[in-house]
Amino acid sequence: MTSLSRIVADIAAEMAAAPDRGTPASYIPPLRDVDPTRFGIAVIEADGTQHLGGDADVPFSIQSISKVFTLTLALGTVGDQLWNRVGREPSGSAFNSIVQLETERGIPRNPFINAGALVVADILLGNHEPREVIGELLRFVRELADDDGITVDHVVAQAELTTGHRNAALAHFMAGFGTIENGVDRLLGTYVHQCALAMSCRQLAAAGRFLMARGINPATGRSVVSPQRARRINALMMTCGHYDGSGEFAYRVGLPGKSGVGGGILAIAPGHAAIAVWSPGLNAIGNSQLGTLALERLVQRTGWSVFDPT
Ligand code: DON
Repeated sequence: MTSLSRIVADIAAEMAAAPDRGTPASYIPPLRDVDPTRFGIAVIEADGTQHLGGDADVPFSIQSISKVFTLTLALGTVGDQLWNRVGREPSGSAFNSIVQLETERGIPRNPFINAGALVVADILLGNHEPREVIGELLRFVRELADDDGITVDHVVAQAELTTGHRNAALAHFMAGFGTIENGVDRLLGTYVHQCALAMSCRQLAAAGRFLMARGINPATGRSVVSPQRARRINALMMTCGHYDGSGEFAYRVGLPGKSGVGGGILAIAPGHAAIAVWSPGLNAIGNSQLGTLALERLVQRTGWSVFDPT
């Protein structure tokens, strides 16, 4: 066993036995029913070596982690014009907060809070049909992960459509400011299907590899985004990827990371690895309790940090 495999195995064993696992999200009913004892971790190095632990091959709802992939696609479509419609500042507010939208006149703080991700989805929709956008997103993540087994969980999407009153409020509020171009129903339909992407830790880490390798997918050698864009997406993940918990995550883990209410986190150790962890129980802010702890353990033992050149 290499030392990294040993570290991953130790983390999986510690997390399997951890007593304080947080609480699964309940506002999207199927997420509430996921087994809280699950824990998975996948670390994929630049040369493609995979280190897997626990439930690394069990698909889960990636939810807000999808916002990294939609942002990447939207930047590819409209380039920096995207920033006319959404900001790049941490919000310091909950992921589904509406408070800043009023004073900031329908321009969300960043692309990772729900309001910002709705704007990004609106950009991707353009004049397309929702199913075309979801098809493009699926093709994109399947190609990045080199895995055609990635799917959308329609039960999760449908449930969120029924219970997603806050997102409906955000979308209508922005439509009231004229900052949304598509009809609210089309937009919400697209957004909930994007969030309902089901991926395993192994698939998610594989799909994130371009962000650890200056925008190049190390598996194919093909450029996904420019080096500058990869750096900037990482910067946004670092500053905004955990919402009002982003400062704490930077302090504890020191890597760009994006969380989802399904309990997943995608983290990037530039030059070293793409990492995905999953445990359904969330902390008070809505980020994976054990996922965060697992990443903290990983960086303690590897020394990986964007604040340290080693
Ligand atoms: O819009 C929502 O509320 C969910 N589909 C996604 C939220 C989410 O994952 C927040 N992340 N921690």
